[in-house]
Amino acid sequence: MENTVNLKGRDFLKLLDYTPEEISYLIDLAAELKWKKRNGISADATNPADALRGKNVALIFEKTSTRTRCAFEVAAHDLGMGTTYLDPSGSQIGKKESIADTARVLAGMFDGIEYRGYEQAIVEELAEYSSVPVWNGLTNEFHPTQMLADLLTIQERFGHLEGIKLTYMGDARYNMGNSLMVACAKMGMHFTACTTAKYFPDQQLVSQCEDIAAQTGGSITLTEDVKAGTTGANVIYTDVWVSMGEPDEVWEERIKELSPYQVNRAVMDNADEQAIFMHCLPAFHDLKTKIGAQIAKRFGITEMEVTDEVFESTQSVVFEEAENRMHTIKAVMLATL
Ligand code: CP
Ligand code: NVA
Repeated sequence: MENTVNLKGRDFLKLLDYTPEEISYLIDLAAELKWKKRNGISADATNPADALRGKNVALIFEKTSTRTRCAFEVAAHDLGMGTTYLDPSGSQIGKKESIADTARVLAGMFDGIEYRGYEQAIVEELAEYSSVPVWNGLTNEFHPTQMLADLLTIQERFGHLEGIKLTYMGDARYNMGNSLMVACAKMGMHFTACTTAKYFPDQQLVSQCEDIAAQTGGSITLTEDVKAGTTGANVIYTDVWVSMGEPDEVWEERIKELSPYQVNRAVMDNADEQAIFMHCLPAFHDLKTKIGAQIAKRFGITEMEVTDEVFESTQSVVFEEAENRMHTIKAVMLATL
């Protein structure tokens, strides 16, 4: 079939804005770019020069990052582009200069803008005023570039996306829970949020995803029952219990309320025999982090959302997932620039 997908000039703000065909196109392009990188072939094999040589991208990070920043920088350099990193304290954004003004200033110098920060409304406004593509590198509500990496990882493991059962445990009302629910609905997958009802995704987004799933053959389930929620799952997914930007005071209630939804051996044993464990990272699975050690001291726990045993098991694909951030972000930039 002829490829009719053309994403040139498009923003990448949330998967809700993209059709299943467009998402598949980006995943397949990422797989091709991964293969090319592994085999030492330039990202654009038809052109001996790098595909986007001479272009420049701005990387705005109002929250910290390891994977997303490195993925954008390495992908941009692989494509022959220059990058400028604006760290959480290194720009005027929102403090001395409005989002609308920042968008127009940066669009005059750069060919694309990545933004990581707080409300989704900020990245949407940035895109509205920018004449060059804007890519969402994580907001409170959505983390769309992470979704492409996760979908690529699942496709690599199972050979397909349709029909895959993915269970998300933990804080399902934040960026990761929301985004995975949308991603599953779009791709005809079965999404389950397995957590206490307080942490279920927003009802309006759930209804929207149910409508999408009705078209794609997917489904959305919300359950507080760990046994029912994880039985037969192909993918068990979790994320930190307290996200960037949330106050320190919420740790106590999160630990109390979300501990029953920790991903441990019993959860993995209840899932499908071939099930994989996924996590966007960073993860609290041991005491080798400052925060992990502080939490251990304050609350007497040594592991949080996932046990070290599961994290380090052969079912865990977290580092493949992390590598795929780079290939998928490269696909987004190549497709939209
Ligand atoms: N998964 C993810 O976005 O990681 P970083 O916060 O390190 O970018
Ligand atoms: N929910 C996490 C995801 C990190 C990639 C956060 O927002 O901190």
